[in-house]
Amino acid sequence: MTELNRRWVLASRPVGMVRESDFALEEVEVPKPGDGQILVRTHWLAFEPAMRGWIDDKPNYIPPVPLGEVMRGMGVGEVVESRLDGYEPGDLVQGMTGWQEWVIGDAGMRKLPAGTDPRLALSVLGITGMTAYFGLLEIGRLQDGDTVLVSGAAGATGSVVGQIAKARGCPVVGIAGGPEKCRWLTDKAGFDAAIDYKSEDVEARIGELCPNGVDVFFDNVGGEILDAGLAHIARGARIVVCGAISAYNLEDRPSGPRNYYRIVAQRGRMEGFVVIDFLPRAPEAVADLLQWVAEGRIRWEADVQQGFENAPATLLRLYSGANFGKQLLEI
Ligand SMILES: NC(=O)c1ccc[n+]([C@@H]2O[C@H](COP(=O)([O-])OP(=O)(O)OC[C@H]3O[C@@H](n4cnc5c(N)ncnc54)[C@H](OP(=O)(O)O)[C@@H]3O)[C@@H](O)[C@H]2O)c1
Repeated sequence: MTELNRRWVLASRPVGMVRESDFALEEVEVPKPGDGQILVRTHWLAFEPAMRGWIDDKPNYIPPVPLGEVMRGMGVGEVVESRLDGYEPGDLVQGMTGWQEWVIGDAGMRKLPAGTDPRLALSVLGITGMTAYFGLLEIGRLQDGDTVLVSGAAGATGSVVGQIAKARGCPVVGIAGGPEKCRWLTDKAGFDAAIDYKSEDVEARIGELCPNGVDVFFDNVGGEILDAGLAHIARGARIVVCGAISAYNLEDRPSGPRNYYRIVAQRGRMEGFVVIDFLPRAPEAVADLLQWVAEGRIRWEADVQQGFENAPATLLRLYSGANFGKQLLEI
């Protein structure tokens, strides 16, 4: 029997919270590589909250995934057939595999050094780690002695942000959902304090924990949590707008931050960024991140789900906070 390529395509554009039924599973023939191409068997998929924006037909930093097309996504796979110099069957590669079991790649797929842990390649040493690194150091312009506040702190990106700041000797407070994630932040990731936004008054707690104000606020969440942080920015604060996961699945755009005027009074700077712009500088980030992981200064978790058929359900975990660490799927 000939093997088929299973793939998840975008079936409908979600309205409000994305649903599993917005994707459809298809079976097609396994593609054949042409000259300069490789045939890759996907083994791992990585999930990003931004995927919710990729399936909306609204202006964004990349074009929307067209209806009926394979869902876009980063993955790691193994080269099965190669017609591309420098790539051999058995090589592990990383790239935009999409949600499919077989994919045709080219030189744009990065060969992973032998022995690389795909979970690490898709998290701390991948887009996630680079987002934390360049977001904090370049957009946040971290200075020695800065007090750092991170929202979405127990997540893949936020946890690396806080630990980089700790590696630089800065006091760090994280905001996360639930006691288990908060305990992980203080006991394992070395944060000075954690605020459970599900049970605590976030604005009041930031005030108690950061009496001299917040110098760098790395925000992954937006909405009320952004407001709570803005209420406590120090003079010359830098607010890094990395993401706004609280808004990604809202049907209507929320109104702007209530406390934005604090930026004027405190001579602050609020700046967004997209990590893609920093990819040419990936090697410098990877070198530092690798060293911090090796030294035990960056602790990381991967939340590994199993089975290709579970790809849409795995994406949904990000929006309920079910994931503990980088959300991955092992096929
Ligand atoms: N700018 C860029 O280039 C760039 C690149 C990559 C990622 N990002 C952004 O970085 C952020 C984190 O991404 P990630 O991949 O590291 O995911 P992640 O933090 O590992 O997972 C998402 C987390 O968001 C929290 N969350 C979900 N819904 C929430 C809500 N309504 N209110 C508050 N918290 C909520 C959950 O944690 P709790 O259990 O704590 O609620 C969940 O675990 C996202 O905003 C993403 O879009 C930006």
